Amino acid sequence: MRILLIGSGGREHALAKKMTESALCEALFIAPGNPGTAQHGENVPIDWKDFSSLRSFILQERIGLVVVGPEDPLVDGLRDRLEADAVLRSVLFIGPGQSGARLEGSKDFSKEFMARHGIPTAGYASFTADTLERGFAFLETLSPPYVLKADGLAAGKGVLILSDVIEAKKELRAMVMDAKFGAASSTVVIEEFLNGIEFSVFALTDGQQCVLLPEAKDYKRIGEGDTGLNTGGMGAVSPVPFCTPDLMEKVVNRIIHPTVKGLHAEGIPYTGFLFFGLIVVDKEPFVIEYNCRMGDPETEVVFPRITEDVVALFVAAAQGTLQNRTVALTSKAQCAVVSVAEGYPEVYAKGDEIHGLDENHAISDAPNSIVFHAGTSLKNGQLVTSGGRVLVVSSQGDTLNEALSSAFGVVKKVTYRGQNYRRDIGKDVQKWIISDPRADDPSSSGSNK
Ligand code: AMP
Ligand code: GLY
Repeated sequence: MRILLIGSGGREHALAKKMTESALCEALFIAPGNPGTAQHGENVPIDWKDFSSLRSFILQERIGLVVVGPEDPLVDGLRDRLEADAVLRSVLFIGPGQSGARLEGSKDFSKEFMARHGIPTAGYASFTADTLERGFAFLETLSPPYVLKADGLAAGKGVLILSDVIEAKKELRAMVMDAKFGAASSTVVIEEFLNGIEFSVFALTDGQQCVLLPEAKDYKRIGEGDTGLNTGGMGAVSPVPFCTPDLMEKVVNRIIHPTVKGLHAEGIPYTGFLFFGLIVVDKEPFVIEYNCRMGDPETEVVFPRITEDVVALFVAAAQGTLQNRTVALTSKAQCAVVSVAEGYPEVYAKGDEIHGLDENHAISDAPNSIVFHAGTSLKNGQLVTSGGRVLVVSSQGDTLNEALSSAFGVVKKVTYRGQNYRRDIGKDVQKWIISDPRADDPSSSGSNK
């Protein structure tokens, strides 16, 4: 199988590494990739938006499988364009078409979808410029904090959580009237606030059947103790110690299966990843959001735990033959620590020299750790920072503590000007690792992370 992977971050590095471990992977190309993905395949400077170049490349390289990492190409309809092309139609593809990607691309659509299929989620209503006054009245019916979400993709910035109703009204006006988040906020979803602990569950589906991938917990805020601005993710752990079999059963029966069945019943073809952003309140799981792709940095802890041939799984998903499949996993713990650039998630520095990696831009003396490249590039042969999230150190251990100690050991060896990372990844879940009879109750945390 000749494979083309689209994307350029840590998620794609993790996918690339895992795919090249497969006996089925004959060749791997990454468009555009990064110095990390180049360790596993050939980076090709093709922009997915340039369909004619992409098309020529797929034909010239006899690509049999396209795997899409980020959401933008999916929400933009890349799959639909390939399917509309008589020659490319037979190429296998991981990622939904535009109709399925709306689960991520439109919060309003995803809330309506959940309502139609009885999938537990926060109560909500949606408003536009024409219904602004009704939006104000709806806010008055809620108690703080107020959750305002831009309907469309807003680079992870479109969710506001506000404690004051006057401020919430002001922000609602700015979103729908003044395009605070551009066209993405022409419709705003206002949600009831759920107080619980968040985690993420992933499935790979062929549109009718699905396989469950390992769950993960992400650390979204820039600051230790879950403080400061939201980021793309500062770290992750898998498995999630509070994710008990009982909780997972509820997630599968009330959320995952109804989602896959709902898509099928509505005639929405869906081949690819489903990412369920969940929150547990009083032991009950609710959907906070859907994504139509894998998470980043969650992929960097989820995929290293898969001991299965993932290309075989992707082919089965793309061909609609996932029935009766399961995914083999290691029970070991995996954690990821994200090393970011100075200033991130606001304006950040770029072009700083990265030291501490070997000549392949990897780490050779830490067998349980992998350094995934997220925002790096090469300048005259020197590895430099080129993104907000620079490197993701992912480590495995018999216990989470063992994994964390390896990851922090490696992250300390890598240096660049202004390096920042969270030292508290995995700390909050320690209380569920100790075998305490009360420790199976995630709602007892009372925190929103
Ligand atoms: P989203 O982009 O929908 O995942 O929202 C971003 C973050 O906002 C989530 O990860 C949660 O931390 C928070 N959030 C979103 N919706 C809610 C809600 N209804 N109640 C509490 N927190 C929420
Ligand atoms: N880490 C969160 C995301 O990928 O959306």
